[in-house]
Amino acid sequence: MTRTTDRTTTTGFSTRAIHHGYNPADHQGALVPPIHTSATYAFPDVAYGARCFAGEEPGYFYTRIANPTLALLEGRLAALEEGAGAVVFGSGMGAITATLWSMLEPGDEILADLTLYGCTFSFLHHGLGRFGVTVRHVDMTDPARVAEALTAKTRVLYLETPANPNMRLVDIAAVSALARAQGAKVVVDNTYCTPYLQQPLLLGADVSVHSMTKYLGGHGDLTAGAAVFADAELAQRVRLYGLKDMTGAVMSAQDAHLVMRGLKTLALRMDRHCQSAQKVAEFIAAHPAAAAVHYPGLPSFAQHALAQRQMRQMGGMIAFELRGGLQAGVRFMDALQLVTRAVSLGDAETLAQHPASMTHSTYTPEQRAAHGIAEGLVRLSVGLEDLDDLLADIGQALDLAHAMDLSAGTNTAISPERAAAAAPFCSAPA
Ligand SMILES: Cc1ncc(COP(=O)(O)O)c(C=O)c1O
Repeated sequence: MTRTTDRTTTTGFSTRAIHHGYNPADHQGALVPPIHTSATYAFPDVAYGARCFAGEEPGYFYTRIANPTLALLEGRLAALEEGAGAVVFGSGMGAITATLWSMLEPGDEILADLTLYGCTFSFLHHGLGRFGVTVRHVDMTDPARVAEALTAKTRVLYLETPANPNMRLVDIAAVSALARAQGAKVVVDNTYCTPYLQQPLLLGADVSVHSMTKYLGGHGDLTAGAAVFADAELAQRVRLYGLKDMTGAVMSAQDAHLVMRGLKTLALRMDRHCQSAQKVAEFIAAHPAAAAVHYPGLPSFAQHALAQRQMRQMGGMIAFELRGGLQAGVRFMDALQLVTRAVSLGDAETLAQHPASMTHSTYTPEQRAAHGIAEGLVRLSVGLEDLDDLLADIGQALDLAHAMDLSAGTNTAISPERAAAAAPFCSAPA
């Protein structure tokens, strides 16, 4: 059978994730693409090298600019997002900073949503803000506010949807149309969804950025980032300025190999993350300890209709607040036996973290209050373990948090059945 390397987007998502851009026949039959670790490339003569540097020769010449293993991953990511090009980086922050440094100049303005991952928030204010870029935040859950806030100086609109950590959604199509009318570009952090659940470029955004440390890698064993572009020229600018000259945040070929291995099972893993997260969210919402559960798949979620329109499934991330506030949240987290207390997300392991003291400690308490990040919020990245085991562990931890909240101060809220079910992971269920 002859196989072509030109696998267009007419093939299905997983077929692209597994095959796009690679033909074993071109590599001595190797089923798995070789890992090119070379930092530099031999020039046949000086003139060839000069043409490479002048951009007149398509060949590889130095891995910080391009590398065959990274190029294969970039092609695959562009095919999955249905973009014109992609650039990969050594971390998600590498992707975000290189992209924004390349798109903005002193005197420009960036309009960002209220809630952002803590280090992105920090970069806007401690990075861009210090170099003459005006940073303004607006509540993008309401497109009317975006329309009011856009000015002639706005060059970039930046958002996450769902936002880390409080799960607020932004209507990508609506804000992209507003931005386009003003000549501004839209950058969406698509880390929570991956292209399997949401394709920002098809909704009108210009750039989709990812922390591939999360679902795309999928196994918690690498740090990496990517930016996928609707416009190939912008991709080239970000590669030649943002990556080559400004951040140097190059990704290693070994990590690119691991991400491509992760991509092969992305659809399967995301299906399972989403199914389990729905059940976990329903379970927490039904527990008397819960004050609010933020999950797009719950009918009680304020933007449930938008989620159904914009996302193929509702994702693996949940945020919630307990009736006992911060103290109850800490009690819940410290009681977990199977679920791991750790930052990051998108791994096989279910992870719980406390944004106010961890990922979003880059905000001051006043900023968290103004940006919609509750002090008691707990963030869960629902992993791939058996659902019953997850529910047993989360249940016993909720029971303990609830018991603490009861004025009687007794443990009557802990059901013996649940404690028994959690037994394999709970050395001291009470
Ligand atoms: C939504 C989001 N974007 C970007 C990043 C940054 O990615 P990295 O840690 O790979 O630099 C993170 C990290 O947690 C994140 O959650």
